[in-house]
Amino acid sequence: MSSFRGLRAHKIKMPEVVVGIDAVKRLGEVAKAFGNKALVVAGRGSLESGRIKVIEDELAKAGVDFTIYSDFKPEPTLNQAEKLAEYVSRVLSYEKIDFVVGFGGGSSLDMAKVASLASANPRPIGQYMGVDKVLRKGLPLILVPTTAGSGSEVSKSIVLVRDGMKDGIVSEKVMADLAIVDPVLTITMPPSLTSMTGIDALSHAIEAYMSINANVFTDPLALKAISMVSTNLRKAYSNGSDLDARKAMSEAALLAGLAFSNASNCAGHAAASAFAVKYGVPHGVACGISLPYVMKFNMLAIAERLADIAIAMGIEGEGLSTRELAQLAIAEVIDLLMDLDLPTSLQEIGVPEEDIVKLADNMLKMTRLLEANPRRVGPEEARKIFEVMWRGDIEAKL
Ligand SMILES: [Fe+2]
Repeated sequence: MSSFRGLRAHKIKMPEVVVGIDAVKRLGEVAKAFGNKALVVAGRGSLESGRIKVIEDELAKAGVDFTIYSDFKPEPTLNQAEKLAEYVSRVLSYEKIDFVVGFGGGSSLDMAKVASLASANPRPIGQYMGVDKVLRKGLPLILVPTTAGSGSEVSKSIVLVRDGMKDGIVSEKVMADLAIVDPVLTITMPPSLTSMTGIDALSHAIEAYMSINANVFTDPLALKAISMVSTNLRKAYSNGSDLDARKAMSEAALLAGLAFSNASNCAGHAAASAFAVKYGVPHGVACGISLPYVMKFNMLAIAERLADIAIAMGIEGEGLSTRELAQLAIAEVIDLLMDLDLPTSLQEIGVPEEDIVKLADNMLKMTRLLEANPRRVGPEEARKIFEVMWRGDIEAKL
């Protein structure tokens, strides 16, 4: 292990978690302890499909009154967050809200965090973008994910689109008080959503394991998540009603969420953020394209860590060198992407070659993520990563 790791002290922070089949049925009893009136933040999809009923029923059973807010789109913008903040201050001016419940994919959970934040911090929300800028913890927050990927239910970040790029509010003050992770809620995800959210979870686990902030707490979480995704994502993708695979994926996403929230993602999410919004590529798909190239780039610095990842993936290590194992971990990510019908290059999703220079520049703006990367990414390196990623040439030197 490289000497720079584990030498600094790390603070570990996580919400209370209820995880397992039918965990959502505990919502009523735990919600009651938070008060009598909830603001439920859920995506329109949850309302239109009727999936929200499980939350409504549980709150009603417990005698908790609620209002639902759903006026935002997936991968929400800062403007949508400001609109929600305005709504929260308006509602709070004439009625008492005791707590917030977020229900849905990562975007809905992030917007629930915005609602909680807005209850105790003056607008505009934009001033809290960055690390540790939130002034006060807001209303208590319960998050209930319906996908297995974002890890938002346990993370301290809110991802918002600003000026065409993903940016974050990172603060312990936006972390949930309680995460309720029920795999049954993920059963209705279509294969395409299963694959992209599952690859997001894998990216969190691998990037947290590569991060310079990886530590004794996050390493086992990351490796276990990598192992569970490797065994179960193909199954969940090919047979959505395989409850064992769904359960394992929900648990893996949770572990990966805890890992990245306490160790940070690194260059993979930085590269993905550089092009996802501009070309309308869903977050998980963008992370999937970036992941193998960033692993390859990092191999010079942390081959032994990539070899650990290969072993966690179930690759037989006997007789192989560290570098051979590291290469196999990268090859396995590419195999997985192909099995899940996900793209493995920028060319494949129609990104024009002449945009490479601009995209590399965008990547360099993601300083918080790049600072956690084990190998320095400067202008030259970013351009090279994007050139190779555009061609899809995993054999190229990086
Ligand atoms: Fe992510």
